[in-house]
Amino acid sequence: MTDKIDVPAKHWDRLFAPSSCLAMITTVDGGGVVNAASYGTCVRVAHEPVHVAFTTSPGKDTYNNILLNGEFVINLAPFDPLVLGQVRVVGLPFAPGVDELAKAGLTALAARVLRPPRIAECPRHFECRVVWTREWIDRVMIVGEVVAASVDADAIHPDGTVIWEKVRPAHYCGAPYNNQFVAAFQTFSADMPYDGPEVQKFEDDRIAMLKE
Ligand SMILES: Cc1cc2nc3c(=O)[nH]c(=O)nc-3n(C[C@H](O)[C@H](O)[C@H](O)COP(=O)(O)O)c2cc1C
Repeated sequence: MTDKIDVPAKHWDRLFAPSSCLAMITTVDGGGVVNAASYGTCVRVAHEPVHVAFTTSPGKDTYNNILLNGEFVINLAPFDPLVLGQVRVVGLPFAPGVDELAKAGLTALAARVLRPPRIAECPRHFECRVVWTREWIDRVMIVGEVVAASVDADAIHPDGTVIWEKVRPAHYCGAPYNNQFVAAFQTFSADMPYDGPEVQKFEDDRIAMLKE
């Protein structure tokens, strides 16, 4: 076993890297003007119906728009050098009303149900209606229910599982790592080195939660 060392509190945030899925989130303001911002903190938090969450700060355009109309679209960014550069542009502190998609050279694509657009360069899109928000310390968590989802036609199997090499999920390492991203699509099917009754119980539960 490797020896463990304690980490001082000032480094806990950077120790927990990468935080979660990388996305560009689109919203619209009261006049229908599109806003896009980059978020490294997107997590799927419920299976049925599917809910997703992310964190931002009070005062951000994304939060203001969401408070106004309760809609956002999560566009999961691929691990593609060109798109990751565009993710960095979209994450700049542009003034309200500035079209971040145009600044980054990204392509807006009408969403299927909600007003904020999809971003064509991202393979996966989740259109969400806000269920709850909660402010704490200097942050706010936003949880939304997915009401429509779409994907690049060549990036999904008939059973709905994704083709990893096509969706190429990316994670953001965080501010201490500057402009680094992690490619999150190396997969491995692990053996079960235990044969107690819990294995069958887990498998039964796993099968029961699958849909067609
Ligand atoms: C790769 C990347 C990931 C980011 N992740 C987050 C995040 O998870 N939460 C957050 O509050 N800001 C995050 N930011 C910063 C926001 O994108 C930035 O504050 C942006 O200006 C917010 O835009 P808005 O005011 O249009 O909402 C990230 C920036 C980058 C470049």
